Amino acid sequence: MDCIEIEGGVQLHGHVRVSGAKNAALPIMASLLLTTGATRLRNVPRVRDVVTFGQVLQALGAKMSFDASELVIDTSAIDRYEAPYDLVKTMRASFLVLGPLLARYGQARVSLPGGCAIGARPVNLHLKGLQALGARLELTQGYVHGYADQLRGTAIVLPSATVTGTENIMMAAVLAKGTTIIDNAAREPEVVDLAESLTQMGARVTGVGSSCISIEGVPRLQPAAHDIIPDRIEAGTFLVAGAMTGGDVTIDHCLPVHLGALLDHLRATGAAVEVGDDWVRVIGSERAYPLDLATAPYPGFPTDMQAQMMALLSRANGRSIISETVFENRYMHAAELSRMGAEIHLEGADAIVMGVPQLHGAPVMATDLRASASLILAGLAAQGITTVSRVYHLDRGYEQIEAKLAALGAKIRRLP
Ligand code: EPU
Repeated sequence: MDCIEIEGGVQLHGHVRVSGAKNAALPIMASLLLTTGATRLRNVPRVRDVVTFGQVLQALGAKMSFDASELVIDTSAIDRYEAPYDLVKTMRASFLVLGPLLARYGQARVSLPGGCAIGARPVNLHLKGLQALGARLELTQGYVHGYADQLRGTAIVLPSATVTGTENIMMAAVLAKGTTIIDNAAREPEVVDLAESLTQMGARVTGVGSSCISIEGVPRLQPAAHDIIPDRIEAGTFLVAGAMTGGDVTIDHCLPVHLGALLDHLRATGAAVEVGDDWVRVIGSERAYPLDLATAPYPGFPTDMQAQMMALLSRANGRSIISETVFENRYMHAAELSRMGAEIHLEGADAIVMGVPQLHGAPVMATDLRASASLILAGLAAQGITTVSRVYHLDRGYEQIEAKLAALGAKIRRLP
């Protein structure tokens, strides 16, 4: 298994281009099941999760080719309707095929995702939403078996604004008869990107980006090429890297409008932030100011940036309190950061971070995607050598992170 070795203490300088957003690419790939034919997706990140999702679609009969950042998926020969346990257990986003399969083929057999390193992550709201649209669902032997003759539009109120739940229901509703209203829908930019892609395919979706989405069902959709939005979490990770090392880093090809809460928090730590139409520049301060932050659904502070921000605050000049309100168990990185000298105490949903002047390199272990990123960031700012093992977590969602960091001056390499 690969690991990543970092010699810390180098200020990062220069420009870095972010890839397309993994969490937009995955639901858009799933949505291609709603059409028949070949679709070209551009700006797709070459990350493990995209490859795994491709395998899920291929298991259903789709053909796929991936050239640089262009992914072509042909859904002309879909003849199976099952997402098997072996694939779903490695990536819970595979569950996103349930809505489109039910809407387009009237049947689906999809493994339940099970537990996850960051929380229980149930899918009850996906199931309730699809049942409200008329799907008949049975849970047996760890699988959801679904059937639907014709889905029918209805009003659905989500008790919590689930991102992939909103996406699954939206994909089912675009081919339902009549109008569906999703209330308390997720407002994340990735949900908006999916809706824009669906609209290009002929769907009628309004209200995306607000918490009330309205979908008027249409009989069929046609393939339509789409450009995936830039990855706001990858952009945020590089911004924290620049800030934490006291460097000067410009993120190119990003959408600063998606980064509002993060940029506000970075400024509050004393970093200088400049913003253009499609770029953001950060200049790190000598030592960050502490701050209190709480994660929240978009447009709040993203839970997917919590671990990286914890790495930054672990070296701040004082005490910070981080509250994780989205997932119940997303602090696995805290113990690993402590191995590097960070002082972090967990109290329920809160992490109390007492900033220390210096972190020290150590062997550490990645536990999930964003936890891995936080350990890399800590390693960049620490004195000495850090070795991050289990980097397959990192490879799920970051495209060539070590090459991009090395181009900014980091002393980082991947070891087999
Ligand atoms: N929830 C339920 N029932 C459901 C669905 C969700 O109770 O049926 C709860 C969850 O347990 C959680 C909260 O609702 O407490 C929010 O979870 P959500 O469903 O929004 O998360 P998700 O859709 O499974 C996506 C991203 C995650 C990201 C979260 C929150 C994808 C493929 N994944 O997950 O991304 O953290 O939204 O923004 O879009 C990552 O990229 O590292 C990652 C974990």
